[in-house]
Amino acid sequence: MIQRYSVKVFNDSFERCSRDPAFLERFYEIFISSNDEVREKFKNTDMENQKGVLRISLSYMMLAHQTPNVLDKLAVQHNTQNLDIKPHLYSVWLDSMVRAVKLTDLEYDDGVEQAWRDMMQPGIDYIISKYDDI
Ligand code: HEM
Repeated sequence: MIQRYSVKVFNDSFERCSRDPAFLERFYEIFISSNDEVREKFKNTDMENQKGVLRISLSYMMLAHQTPNVLDKLAVQHNTQNLDIKPHLYSVWLDSMVRAVKLTDLEYDDGVEQAWRDMMQPGIDYIISKYDDI
């Protein structure tokens, strides 16, 4: 169960990060350079478009702790039949996101980091649970 406190800390941090146009740029730079498997997956991707779709899906990720089904389409797109994103890459995703938040959010502290991890983990667990659900 996610505390109301975490939801507020997350929302405020997300808003501060969203005001900085470089936020998602930073995230993808960190994410793609962190791991060869990730780099390979994005080699043909239009990253401008990708930043836009990620921005929207972050709100879905946040809703997922109450209603995970909002992620059904995203889970299918990432599963073994489609993009085939291996489950171990989601911790790389989350660590990269936290590093991008740290570089962007001027009010970043341990509580902010924890709130992002608490808010993103249920969605990640749900997407991973659907990885080879065919
Ligand atoms: C929970 C975390 C994640 C979220 C919220 C997320 C979100 C998204 C979204 C919204 C799309 C666009 C889907 C569409 O075309 O409509 C996408 C595509 C994609 N994602 Fe993820 N993703 C996540 C994790 C990952 C991870 C861990 C990888 C590992 C490499 C990854 C690799 C990709 C790739 C390769 C595409 C397709 C890009 C293209 O169109 O060329 N994603 N993701």
